[in-house]
Amino acid sequence: MTIPQLTAAEAAAMISHGDLIAVGGFGPAGSPKVIPPALAAKARSEHEAGRPFKVSIVTGASIGASCDGQLSEADAVERRLPFSVNASMRKAYNEGRVKYTDLNLSDNASHLRQGLTGQVAYGIIEACDVQEVQGKLRIYLTAGIGIAPTICRLATKGVFIELNTWHSTRLIGMHDIYEIEDPWFRAPIRITQPIEIIGLPYIEVQPSHVRGIVSTHLPDEARVMNDATPVTEAIGQHMADFLLWNMKKGYIFRNKLILQSGVGSGANAVIGALGSSTEVPNFYIYTEVLQEEPMRLIKEGRVVAASTGALTLSPQHLQELYHDMNLYRGRLLLRPSEISNCPEIIARLGVCSLNTAIEVDIYGHVNSTKVSGTRMMNGVGGSCDFTCNSMLATFTCGSTAKDGRISSIVPFCSHVDHTEHYVDAIVTEYGVADLRNKCASEKAEALIAIAHPDYRPLLREYLRIAQGYGGHTHHILPAAFAMHDTYRRKGDMRLTDWSEYILP
Ligand code: COA
Repeated sequence: MTIPQLTAAEAAAMISHGDLIAVGGFGPAGSPKVIPPALAAKARSEHEAGRPFKVSIVTGASIGASCDGQLSEADAVERRLPFSVNASMRKAYNEGRVKYTDLNLSDNASHLRQGLTGQVAYGIIEACDVQEVQGKLRIYLTAGIGIAPTICRLATKGVFIELNTWHSTRLIGMHDIYEIEDPWFRAPIRITQPIEIIGLPYIEVQPSHVRGIVSTHLPDEARVMNDATPVTEAIGQHMADFLLWNMKKGYIFRNKLILQSGVGSGANAVIGALGSSTEVPNFYIYTEVLQEEPMRLIKEGRVVAASTGALTLSPQHLQELYHDMNLYRGRLLLRPSEISNCPEIIARLGVCSLNTAIEVDIYGHVNSTKVSGTRMMNGVGGSCDFTCNSMLATFTCGSTAKDGRISSIVPFCSHVDHTEHYVDAIVTEYGVADLRNKCASEKAEALIAIAHPDYRPLLREYLRIAQGYGGHTHHILPAAFAMHDTYRRKGDMRLTDWSEYILP
């Protein structure tokens, strides 16, 4: 069967106001790049003609700027889930113009299957190759998978494929496509080491399910990571020392260290620092996103093998990887997000998770998502999937933000994504707070010790006064957000005066 060749505008023309569109890829990796902008153009012309036009968008994780950026700028998005890192989309959901659902990435595909997200009208996925074999279509994906296998099955009106020749067909064989069964019938997901293959290297669909193929030649829209700073280097060194100490104690495996690394420049730099430590043995990665530093370490042999949901690399780094693909074969595997973030596998493998916090409170609760408890940054992503199921769950953050005017360690988190029960350790440039087997007061002492020196006296004073009120987890509720409130009023948490909040 011949699949129709379409332009992006022809594909966008089929999409209707109110449709739920499911988009493949994971972050900018593997994200479609021409149909979403064409959809944004359609939305603009519909709006100019006085007609409403909005769609809801579900993706594997975040998505490239040509999707989130252009669609939100065109005011074309009704509802968005489960994660976004785009500044324009962030503005839209923080201004209430887009209904944004922040969801654990491991739950996303099951929510689609359960029908909780709504009925998917169209799927849009990116492929490096499409082959018709015995009447079926084999779709070979690009640098990220996300929810593509589920989208291809559930899209009621069919799937559009962006066939992107910028990506190399050397990617063929690097994907392990497997979709989890629904509960009651769910078999164990038999991944017992990071790059064990359990599925197929392609998605198989009926050709009639594909509405059309749009040819493209465009790089992924991944941002270049910020360089390491003295702060991220110090955090990386503390993390390396902490992991080594855990290995020596036998708390984690010495010869089978399996790490997950989170998103962002901080996480990238931490992995780089771990790789540079001569004492940390070669390790494995089981994660959702591979950024530049882990890729370098795979090439150098420091990372033995890596399983990921996406290759979130700058265009130059991705082309280098394609060029050297033979070095990576058998050592690198791409998985759908429900597998890269699968609680069962994370727990079985004994993964040590490394995620980044926005703020941490003195009792070990972590805020990953909401600045001042109200403004959504990106979303929880996969940090909850990993933190709740890891053998050792750690978070890193610089001790301060905004040139020292904000302390990352506060009396009470303004929003909690990860409760103290799952958080094992926090690392700042001042050291490690190992929270395991500690009571609330001991956690507070350990966390205040790694706060920025400017904030330690303030936090100690809070703890001292709070302890006077008794209880197990000491708080003075009217003062619990005093540091946040002082930043709001005076622009600097260091100006906090407890007497303004605590009545004599
Ligand atoms: N209060 C206010 N703003 C804060 C802050 C705080 N306590 N801590 C950080 N920020 C601001 C920074 O100043 C920066 O602002 P800018 O963009 O205006 O410069 C912004 O938050 C990002 O901080 P940065 O230090 O650049 O962080 P990052 O790139 O390492 O990302 C997270 C950190 C937490 C935002 C990011 O890791 C994330 O979205 N995490 C949640 C999802 C996740 O963990 N996924 C991985 C699972 S595998």
